[in-house]
Amino acid sequence: MDFKKQILITGGAGFIGSHLVRLFVNKYPDYHIVNLDKLTYAGNLENITDIENNKNYTFVKGCITDQQFINSLFEKYDFDGVIHLAAESHVDRSITNPLEFIEANIVGTVNLLNAAKNNWGDFKNKLFYHVSTDEVYGSLGDTGFFVETTAYDPRSPYSASKASSDHLVRAYFHTYGLPIVISNCSNNYGPNQFPEKLIPLVINNIKHNKPLPIYGDGKYTRDWLWVVDHAEAIDLIFHKGKKGETYNIGGNNERKNIELVETLCDTVDEQLGREVGSSRKLIEFVKDRPGHDRRYAIDATKLKNELGWEPTIQPEEGLKRTAEWYLANEKWLENVTSGAYQKYYDEQYA
Ligand code: NAD
Ligand code: TYD
Repeated sequence: MDFKKQILITGGAGFIGSHLVRLFVNKYPDYHIVNLDKLTYAGNLENITDIENNKNYTFVKGCITDQQFINSLFEKYDFDGVIHLAAESHVDRSITNPLEFIEANIVGTVNLLNAAKNNWGDFKNKLFYHVSTDEVYGSLGDTGFFVETTAYDPRSPYSASKASSDHLVRAYFHTYGLPIVISNCSNNYGPNQFPEKLIPLVINNIKHNKPLPIYGDGKYTRDWLWVVDHAEAIDLIFHKGKKGETYNIGGNNERKNIELVETLCDTVDEQLGREVGSSRKLIEFVKDRPGHDRRYAIDATKLKNELGWEPTIQPEEGLKRTAEWYLANEKWLENVTSGAYQKYYDEQYA
């Protein structure tokens, strides 16, 4: 079959990538979507079983740190675009093992940039889209917002590795003329997120009556965005964004961690038929994360004014849907936390 475009999505078995792959495969039947993923602990093909047999979809297991393999993939498929999400993504893990983040997030990105640069001829109608985070901007005080021109000030090994990859992507634009676009997004939430991140961790622990660990004083603030809204923003920027530009994506939905966790307690209590508020007793203030960023908040005016994007799901509705999904998908939770899926994929792809 002749496709209008061939697009490489990296990290498409992960949390955000799975929603993006589903969106692209369903919305663009005339595009061939190649999903490249290493299937680390966070990557899980169960996230996208609904589209795995589509004619316009191909899954490839592989690692972006393997330059030879990445080159061969670009030789095999004449990609028109890359949407690069594959990364190590958890701040706490980056504190215990920074090198893994340098390799996946920096070296992996450079490998993809080189493959695009070396295989894409005159770059006409090509696009390298790098999916990044607002954490590159550092930490805000009680007021203010990150805009696209905010100076980078990353403070964790994770955010430093993402900042570094953003810089390299821009360097390839300026040095080699590689057509690129970058988006920096706030904290996502929704189905398929590995339960080491705050929201799925808390929902799972409430269900099992386990302690809910709140780092430090719990007044750290994040801006939360429904994951499908992020996928839709990426779609819009990929198709309509200006080459060389950066777009901030945010939920306009700031919450202090303690408030968010209390809301989740009440939501889950209601869904489980428990006395509403009873799970709040599980909250435990624990030792703070080193270098913990105090507050993130995004100003997404540029994306709204230039491309007309706004979040569609309100936080109350989004949190309700998220809790419902994790409570209904007990087996998924069991499999990701026990490593059962990973064992299965290791055997299947050995
Ligand atoms: P995730 O950890 O859920 O998924 C990452 C995916 O990348 C997994 O499927 C994993 O198997 C794959 N991967 C990791 N290393 C790889 C490698 N070396 N080669 C090939 N595949 C590899 O992450 P996520 O939360 O879905 O984040 C996706 C992207 O979006 C990341 O680049 C992250 O920095 C960015 N981002 C995340 C958020 C958020 O709130 N989660 C917010 C803004 C930006
Ligand atoms: P997390 O989901 O790890 O995302 P990020 O660090 O990328 O923002 O954490 C969200 C917030 O929740 C962050 O301020 C750290 C805090 N947190 C806790 O208080 N307890 C936890 O167990 C976790 C995982 C996070």
